[in-house]
Amino acid sequence: MIKVLCIAGARPNFMKIAPIMRAFHAHPEIEPFLIHTGQHYDEKMSRLFFDELEIPKPDRNLGVHGGTPTTQTAAIMQAFEPVCKEYNPDMVLVVGDVNSTVACGLTAVHLGIPLIHVEAGLRSRDRTMPEEINRIVTDSISSLLFCSEPAGIINLGKEGRFGDNVYHVGNVMIDTLLTHLEKAKSLPTLTEMDVQPGNYGVMTLHRPSNVDNPETFARILDILDKVQSQYPVLFPIHPRTRKTAENFGLFDRMRKMPNLRLTEPLGYLEFLNLNAHAKFVMTDSGGIQEELTVLDVPCLTLRENTERPITCEQGTNVLVGSDPDRFFAAFNKIVDGTFRKTTVPPLWDGKAADRIAYVITTKWASR
Ligand code: UD1
Repeated sequence: MIKVLCIAGARPNFMKIAPIMRAFHAHPEIEPFLIHTGQHYDEKMSRLFFDELEIPKPDRNLGVHGGTPTTQTAAIMQAFEPVCKEYNPDMVLVVGDVNSTVACGLTAVHLGIPLIHVEAGLRSRDRTMPEEINRIVTDSISSLLFCSEPAGIINLGKEGRFGDNVYHVGNVMIDTLLTHLEKAKSLPTLTEMDVQPGNYGVMTLHRPSNVDNPETFARILDILDKVQSQYPVLFPIHPRTRKTAENFGLFDRMRKMPNLRLTEPLGYLEFLNLNAHAKFVMTDSGGIQEELTVLDVPCLTLRENTERPITCEQGTNVLVGSDPDRFFAAFNKIVDGTFRKTTVPPLWDGKAADRIAYVITTKWASR
């Protein structure tokens, strides 16, 4: 048996770890354990996802959250080290690019345990993003790298990582989307929110570069104000965004927009249902860019760069920053129906986690 400690900590990890746990549990040669770092802890940011995505209850929860990137990363490392020693796994597997990813990765390699990184090789080339640093560090210390798109393979090659430790396996987050899409679409979310299919927008916003800077945040609200005068916009608001909006005195401004519906963070299924039927989505998330490419829904990304270039090259993603001219150039195409259609990227077919299980067991057998 190959004992693998799988790590999940923050919301975008949960939809990635779900299919991996399922594939590992179904595999006779893999014995998986799940460690939750606690980075995200609200009912709506964490437990709801475990229930909806049928992720097994974590074997351990390290209970670490809050703090600066440094204190958070350090606290997760300290809490994970004894757990890692106790389980003494053959491998540790981390997903994505959050602080939990790099913290547990560093801890594993300090203990001499091989590290597997799922969603390897993505690069925004923006080193002011904490996630970019997390990606670079995690990839550089991983023994086995699984990429979701060809750019990942190319980026790793440029950093001297190639050969039989780098695999293009597809996108585990899309495994989850395809598993749950029909169920999500059958929910009464649109009726409950009083919107019509294809006639509303969705917005998400939480990147420090957008919400920690009052000028940028206000510029985005200027755009949002105009958009909501044409279409209702649903905005499930991330806890940190709510806090900063309140601190900058911007929360009231949002509350006064008549067609903007602010909600608590939503569960996976309701949010997927809303995205699947939206006319457009405005977001600064990474993963949502990929989901909208599969759903063929226009994605206006409120960032200057993306680590997921395939979503721009052949999907529905357009980078607009916080610039109203760029935003409305793309938005007007959505309104007049001339926005391009998507082509789903290779291997985004719902089988990425199975490929990961296959590679791990094959390599283990031939070691
Ligand atoms: C983290 C990830 C980011 C990901 C995002 C999705 C890092 C560096 N960033 O950012 O890549 O896109 O998650 O949400 O790991 N908070 C709560 N309740 C929660 C979670 C967070 O109130 O359940 C608040 C807390 O005040 C916390 C703050 O949000 O201190 C920031 O949370 P944190 O996990 O540090 O970063 P995110 O902004 O959520």
